[in-house]
Amino acid sequence: MRPSKGLDDLPGDLAGRVVALRADMNVPMRGAEVADDARVRRTAPTIRRLVASGARVAVLSHLGRPGGRPAPELSMAPVAGRLSALLDAGDGDGAAGRRAEVRFVPHAAGAPVAAAVARLRDGDVLVAENTRFHPGETANSRSLAAEWAAWADHFVTDAFGAAHRAHASTDALPRAIRAKGGEAVAGLLVERELASLGEAVHHPRRPFVAVMGGAKISGKIELIDALLERADTVLVGGAMAHVFFRALGLETGASLVEESAVSVAGRLLETAGPRLGLPVDCVVAERVAPGARTRVVSRTDVGGAETIGDVGPVTATLFGDRLREAETVIWNGPMGAFETEGFGAGTERIGRAAAGAAARGASVVVAG
Ligand code: 3PG
Repeated sequence: MRPSKGLDDLPGDLAGRVVALRADMNVPMRGAEVADDARVRRTAPTIRRLVASGARVAVLSHLGRPGGRPAPELSMAPVAGRLSALLDAGDGDGAAGRRAEVRFVPHAAGAPVAAAVARLRDGDVLVAENTRFHPGETANSRSLAAEWAAWADHFVTDAFGAAHRAHASTDALPRAIRAKGGEAVAGLLVERELASLGEAVHHPRRPFVAVMGGAKISGKIELIDALLERADTVLVGGAMAHVFFRALGLETGASLVEESAVSVAGRLLETAGPRLGLPVDCVVAERVAPGARTRVVSRTDVGGAETIGDVGPVTATLFGDRLREAETVIWNGPMGAFETEGFGAGTERIGRAAAGAAARGASVVVAG
């Protein structure tokens, strides 16, 4: 869903109305404690605005990747506790107002959630259990969305970090609420993020460097096209780069390659010229697995049985140098299979270079 409306498009008086708020409270945990509450804090202004309008707010969020079944260590209960403390403290945007009561229901969906929503009073907040405890969430299940939509009058998304996922709470639910005549709008956090993204893309300070990565190019071709029109340099890493290697006629061995996109990559290479930067070296292994024996090779020396798992150190240095000169940076997607031990160095080095750019005052937007 691409929200084009904001909180101002909701009715001014939400007394008696239930607003389903999809937040991204996917926070780092240390045991049963929230290790960093930044994501909870960032969505607090939206919750306060809704509470001040008299809404009954039901918060839906995922936490980690439990795989469609309950995992006690990924319960939203501690997050609900943290939200309660933040709202009590008036922390976040400094707004005063009615003290919001925050309750937690240890279910992601079904009758217990409906019953807990029915018990809310105007201005109360309910946090439901991790949406990903339900297998229908990542399957974008319409029946799960219908369960939530049955008790919600309106939908607000503040889940900027999860907005690219077509899951039941991010996609099917706003559709279901619109279908029953409710509003589906962006929260304050999403509005702010979209505004800064728009500013970076449409009025960039230069040099403007975009870094693209991740596995799939097909969903990002329009984005790369648009960035090539505006950015001074577009750097491509991750499995997305393999498609370009193939278009250049290079050996990619057993690496992940999205074959259907090779001809498009060839076209992009022709039109972009030197503004498109590709990895010059790669980390390869027989297979991408923890502890695998790796070697660093030039992009022209990938063996027929090898798999590319990361950009190499020379590439990380070259890409990092471009980021060090940049005044505007947009970064979308990892440089390699960073979740697997031994293949995360390229992504980490780009992350550090982007953080360095932000620290010296460049506009840096990291998305996806
Ligand atoms: C994130 O932390 O990037 C978002 O919460 C999305 O999480 P996901 O990658 O598990 O969907």
